[in-house]
Order: sequence, then structure tokens, then C-alpha cells
Amino acid sequence: MEINPIKGLQGTITVAPDKSISHRAIMLASIAKGKSFVSNFLMGEDCLSTIECFKKLGVSIEIKAGQIYIDGKGKYALKAPGQLLYTGNSGTTTRLLCGLLAPQSFSATLDGDASIRKRPMKRVIEPLMKMGAKISGTNGDYTPITIEGTKLKEIEYTMPVASAQLKSALILAGLYVQGKTTIIEPKLSRNHTELMVNGFGGEITVENNIITVNPGKELFGQEIEIPGDISSAAFFIVAALIIPNSEIRIKNVGLNETRTGIIDVLRAMGAFIAIENFRDGMEPSGDLIVKTSSLHGVEIGGKVIPRLIDELPALAVAAAFAEGITLIKDAEELKVKESNRIDAMETELKKAEVEVRSTSDGLIIKGGRIVRGAEFESWNDHRIAMSMTVLALAAEGTSRIKNPQCIRVSYPDFFDTLHLITRK
Ligand code: S3P
Repeated sequence: MEINPIKGLQGTITVAPDKSISHRAIMLASIAKGKSFVSNFLMGEDCLSTIECFKKLGVSIEIKAGQIYIDGKGKYALKAPGQLLYTGNSGTTTRLLCGLLAPQSFSATLDGDASIRKRPMKRVIEPLMKMGAKISGTNGDYTPITIEGTKLKEIEYTMPVASAQLKSALILAGLYVQGKTTIIEPKLSRNHTELMVNGFGGEITVENNIITVNPGKELFGQEIEIPGDISSAAFFIVAALIIPNSEIRIKNVGLNETRTGIIDVLRAMGAFIAIENFRDGMEPSGDLIVKTSSLHGVEIGGKVIPRLIDELPALAVAAAFAEGITLIKDAEELKVKESNRIDAMETELKKAEVEVRSTSDGLIIKGGRIVRGAEFESWNDHRIAMSMTVLALAAEGTSRIKNPQCIRVSYPDFFDTLHLITRK
């Protein structure tokens, strides 16, 4: 895809519905009793993989006019799939399903695409085995993963990494044990699972970084309206900041505190980002108003990292246009995302003549000089493809983005939305 620099972004948009919340809505509605109804569900390939898996597990799920209807029959109603559960490119589907399938009374095998086959699964396999799960990964760490459902026991587990996928897998498994499961997080990660389990009538208590799952409560079907994904909004936020003459409103973006690190960091870099129409609730949301701003480099590390982990490629682009040095540290998890995002961003930013160096746990970017268009690879990673598109819109000269189709996993309408607000 050829991309040329543009004169500005102006107008009002909504962005793709939240991916993390969409996955969880299907999973919890599938093990709840009664009908659930999900509006503004993300029809991206990742979330469709989750729907396909739960259909194979015997759950009645219907998509009508963009809304999802799920007829749940309770915690013990899932059925043996009788075929492979294919999770595509989706780490969330793969890891959360490990936790949910381990305590069932049937066996199942999970596998995904080439990227999923490279992603570490031992982080879920190990604690689930401590709970008594009969689960085995290929070479101990990878998909295909085979799970022979069995009765589990509670554990107290200190997570070695701040990962919401790991935490959520253990929470889902914990819903099926007799006693209380305790999970201790090194740093706070997104808490959508905890909130939604409670929203369905479950009982999870959280004290600082300690999550306690009280099993035994039946979950009941709910109506869920999913807000826009701040991780998808991130590309438009950064684009509006670095492209001159831009002012946009992004309506109805999810503003859960465990996800808003990008706003905090960009504001510290000098960004104008205002929040209007704030709607409080289980998952708060609001409109973001973003204007072109002159940015400066900052240090990004410590406990903010899990609050913006998926936004780091977009932030690296912002850093390329920010005066001075941006240091991203404590972000080694970037190496095990849909691609190795440290390598990916270092390689692609260098093509744009940005001064950048990778470290063992992040990137050092010296920004504020001319950024040049080039031919960029997507690394078959949606967030790399969208980040480099944003860079290309603000760079000098023409760029080409290879394999932009990989964006479909999280944001099928990305380019349509971009065209809506582009001033040429
Ligand atoms: C997600 C958690 C994060 C994030 C991913 C979605 C989730 O991964 O990077 O895109 O929905 O729980 P980790 O749990 O591996 O940190």
C-alpha cells in the first residue's frame, strides 16, 4: 500500500471496539446461565476466532446485524469440541482458553497460526499444572497444546510477568475449583476479566496487586456494550499529534485506568489530549480531543508499562517526532507479542532514518529530525503495520507498507476511518 504525507487530520470518528473486552464477553457469556447480548462487538479476526472456538464447544452464538446473541447454559455445559480449536493469531483466545478448558470434563487441542506457534505458553501451562491440570504444550512451551480436562485445586500464585492473559487464564480456571484461588501480580495489568466476572455475578476481590477468586457463584447472562479500544485509538491519537493542522475527536473510547498509560505518557511528552463526555461505569469511557502538539522525549518504564504495553509501537513513532531522547525500558514483554516488537520497531524506524537503538528491554529513540518515507514491513503484526502507516502519513516523501491486511485481526476498518478524517 502506498502512503503519502497528508496535510492534516480533522473530524470526528469512533474506533474499533475493544478487543480484550470483546473476547471476554464471549467467554463469560458462554459459561453463564441465560441469554447475553453484546453490542459494539469487535468483528476483527481475533475475536471471530474466539466465537468459532466457543461454537465448537457447543455454545449457541448468533451474529445479527453486528450484535452478538449468546445463549449460555452455565459453567458445566461446554461440550467436547471433537475437532481442533483454532485460535488464529490471537494470544488472548489461546491463553484464556487454556485456563477455561483445564477444568472441563473433556479433552481439547488448541493451535493457532505461525505467530501463535512461536509465542510462549509455559507461563500459563506451569501454574495450571500446579492447579492439577493435565495440559501439555509442544516442547513444553508452544501450541499445539493438548488439554485433558480434570478436577483442579486452588493455588496461591505469584505471577513472574505482568500479563493479563496469564492472570485471566488463572481466574477462569479458579472459577471451577472448590477453594479460593489467589493471584499476585508484579504490576497491575488490565483488569477487564475481574470486572466482567463480577458483572456476571461472580465474586472476585482485589486488594492492591492481590486478586482472590471466590468460586461457587453462578454467572448469569448480561447485556454488554463495548467501548472503543484505546489501543486502536492510539494510532489516531499519535497521528493527530504529529501531523500538522490536526484536530480530531475520538468518541466513546474505553478509559479503564489499567489501559490509559498512553494518555499519561503522551501528556508528559507535551501532547494536547482532552477528555469530554466522560461516562463512569464498570468500564468507563469518554471522547478524546487531540490536537497537533510539539512533543519532547521522556522516559517510559516501571509500572506504566502494562498500562500501555500494546501502545509502545505507536509511542515509538511519537518519539521519532519528539524533540530529544525517549527511553523505553522494562518492556521485554514486547519481544513475545504478535512479533518481536523491539526488533520490528528498531528495524522499521531505521528505514525512516530515525536514530534508534534497541536494548534488552526496550528502545532508545532520538527524535525531532527529519523522518523519511520508505518501504516498511508489517512483520505480520497489526500494530506494527498501523504504527508505520501513522509514521508514513507524517514523514517526508512516499512510503509503502507491505502486508497491510494483517491489520484485520484487530481493526478491519482502520483505513476507512483514516480516510474519513484525512485532509490532503
Ligand atoms: C491482553 C493482554 C496483553 C496484551 C494483549 C491483550 C488481554 O497481553 O498485550 O494484546 O486481552 O488480556 P499480556 O497478557 O501477554 O500482557
